[in-house]
Amino acid sequence: MSQIDMPLFPLPQQKQIWAVGGCKGGTGKTIVTVSLGILLSRLGHRVVLIDTDLGGANLHTCAGIRYPAKTISDFLLKKTNSLEDLLTETSIENLKIISGANDSLTIANLPHVQKLKLIHHIRRLPADYIILDLGAGTSFNVLDIFLMADSGIVVITPEPTSVENVYRFIKSAILRKISNYLSDLKYNDILKEAVASKENGPLKSIRDLVEKINRIDSSISASLEEKISSFYPKVIINQVRANDNMMLGMSIKDIANKYLGVNLDYVGYIPYDETVHESVKKFKPLIIEYPNCSVSLCMSLTLKKLLNGKEPLRGIDAGQII
Ligand SMILES: Nc1ncnc2c1ncn2[C@@H]1O[C@H](COP(=O)(O)OP(=O)(O)OP(=O)(O)O)[C@@H](O)[C@H]1O
Ligand SMILES: [Mg+2]
Repeated sequence: MSQIDMPLFPLPQQKQIWAVGGCKGGTGKTIVTVSLGILLSRLGHRVVLIDTDLGGANLHTCAGIRYPAKTISDFLLKKTNSLEDLLTETSIENLKIISGANDSLTIANLPHVQKLKLIHHIRRLPADYIILDLGAGTSFNVLDIFLMADSGIVVITPEPTSVENVYRFIKSAILRKISNYLSDLKYNDILKEAVASKENGPLKSIRDLVEKINRIDSSISASLEEKISSFYPKVIINQVRANDNMMLGMSIKDIANKYLGVNLDYVGYIPYDETVHESVKKFKPLIIEYPNCSVSLCMSLTLKKLLNGKEPLRGIDAGQII
């Protein structure tokens, strides 16, 4: 287990941390985070949403809070030692948020130790589900927070560039996972050596990389394989406008498997609907303002898939929203 995703103390059995990310801006990561959070809170779970978009915090707006009094920067800039102090109540029962930073310049690139401290405190929050809303892109901040979660969810939109975008995100994440793992084992040089190796031609896939690492030192091969196979990101396609858009998830799954050796779980699609824009304009969470719109319905179905059928969602099987 790497340092990044290692629980630092015994955790309550139920606690789950999800991270919502993706390569591109504006795909719907924040809308998805808030919607899943509200739906989970309605199932009776204690939910905390955390805005970790250190450059463009806006989760509070989508959760219906205009001016958050406390933000995560109070913790990152050491104004408080407790992340719990920053929990802000929402109008929704069981749902709290920690708002994003408003001084991104100081904290856009968190030092490794500070990231570990943040992750440690996130795991200690009193909640059943903690959902982390990530900024766009593949910075180390984004990747490390994505990798520390129990479930990583990638939100994409159906555009010609989206396969490339999701591929880049997943590839960066798996490489970061491998690199963190090797560095925890003090094997930093082996990755550089494998990447530089000309033996058996250039690297074409993650599988090639693992094989090269194995040839240099086979003692870690089993644990490295396990690391890779435990990486199982979920994909949501948002802003779907045509039937064939939904199939994109299957193509992405095939490509990730073939070239990266990564299994993706395509958990659902969300249609494009003007109600999303309307709810943002009104500062009201979509699920609350338009509970019966197609987006709310598909969010519920997606949550059902994410929960893996473990929890009945009231009303879903009867074809209506919660
Ligand atoms: N399903 C949808 N239908 C219509 N519009 C949508 C949908 N999802 C998102 N949008 C629009 O996209 C905008 C951006 O959504 P959101 O803020 O969730 O994206 P994001 O991925 O979090 O962006 P960023 O990368 O900047 O954090 C919303 O304000 C809304 O107008
Ligand atoms: Mg966002």
